[in-house]
Amino acid sequence: MKVIPSVDVFEGEFELPGDKSVTHRAIMFNGGAEGEAVITNALMGEDCLSTCRCMRSLGAKIEIDGTTLRVQGTPRFRRGVALNCGNSGTTIRLLTGFAAGKGIEAKLYGDDSLSSRPMNRVAEPLSRLGANVQTTDGHAPVYVQPSELCGARVDLKIASAQVKSAVLLAGLSAEGETVVTEPVKSRDHTERMLAAMGARIAVDNNAVTIKRSTLKAVDVCVPADISSAAYFMSLGALKGETLCKNVGINPTRTGILTAFDKLGVKYSLRNKRVSGGEETADILVQKSNMQAITLTAAEIPAMIDELPLVALLCAFAEGESRITGARELRVKESDRIQTTAELIRNLGGDCRELDDGFVIRGKKTLAGGTVDSYLDHRIAMTGAVGLIASQKGGTVLRPDCCAISFPDFFEKLGIQARQV
Ligand code: S3P
Repeated sequence: MKVIPSVDVFEGEFELPGDKSVTHRAIMFNGGAEGEAVITNALMGEDCLSTCRCMRSLGAKIEIDGTTLRVQGTPRFRRGVALNCGNSGTTIRLLTGFAAGKGIEAKLYGDDSLSSRPMNRVAEPLSRLGANVQTTDGHAPVYVQPSELCGARVDLKIASAQVKSAVLLAGLSAEGETVVTEPVKSRDHTERMLAAMGARIAVDNNAVTIKRSTLKAVDVCVPADISSAAYFMSLGALKGETLCKNVGINPTRTGILTAFDKLGVKYSLRNKRVSGGEETADILVQKSNMQAITLTAAEIPAMIDELPLVALLCAFAEGESRITGARELRVKESDRIQTTAELIRNLGGDCRELDDGFVIRGKKTLAGGTVDSYLDHRIAMTGAVGLIASQKGGTVLRPDCCAISFPDFFEKLGIQARQV
């Protein structure tokens, strides 16, 4: 466990780790492409290491030197392999589509948390392209058998970048054209990176069309992950002033800024630029008095991973906030509606679960206490932020899961968090 003190002021300039979604894709797509690519500022968290491990098992060559990776794609994939995806939903879902596209016979599996998450959401749309994907009662292990793929139209009922990407990766090898639509646009890193690698892909609002293509390796300079920066941005809003450098601000990922606008958080974007097809900026956030907000379904995908933190900010705001249309949170690394509500209550706040979200009665301050991570990295980091901003601090139980997306989170905080 980690003992976390409360602080009066939290300020500083921070370089955050590379974007998890972009790193996964840079490793996987280059691992299946012609040529060699260099990926810089890659996130070396456990989830992305799972993607490295799986791509190596399939035959890709990956050299790791700090946060720089050299990836050489393989023209011939190993078959009949068992791919351990660890805790990573992105690895298992994208690789299922990748394996179906490349005609690879594979078993994909993971840890207890991953094994409890729904996999029919990828198996079913892939089967519409003719893929042979079997789940285990809707869960991992997932088994892929080679089959001929034929392009199809797939209308997803939920907005999911993981499912969309799986279909696009299969569509890359299918005869004819594949069209994927989703109700609200989810993160589009796959579309951007595949286009940069030479794929025949076209985007029209929430519809993406892809045709059979060969990918050419592309170097990727990974921006800092806004989902990781969000913890430091929030500490700026609660306790002082923070500047997060070189953060990815792809518009499908900036829901946290929408939440800040509504909460009344003062922030500015500086030094905006484009790096490797993704916009980045330095984000300055200043201490702000926050008021209650309402968030609904159309706003959720762009802040899906930040919602536990947004709910926490609502607990520090004035008035009653309501977040709905977020049922997807129930099938993340933990049931994040339940675990976030418990976290806020354990800090002394007032949060009621809805089937698809939360009602949070903001108290402007929280007492602190003991919170559990439930072995979910985002809950652990949200808990730490809540304790730092609380009146008396407290303890995070089972904090090591931060390593999934942010291995040096507690060091970067720079506060005297004690390991017990
Ligand atoms: C991700 C997509 C999101 C997100 C996850 C990463 C991705 O999941 O929650 O952390 O890299 O594609 P869904 O696509 O299932 O919403």
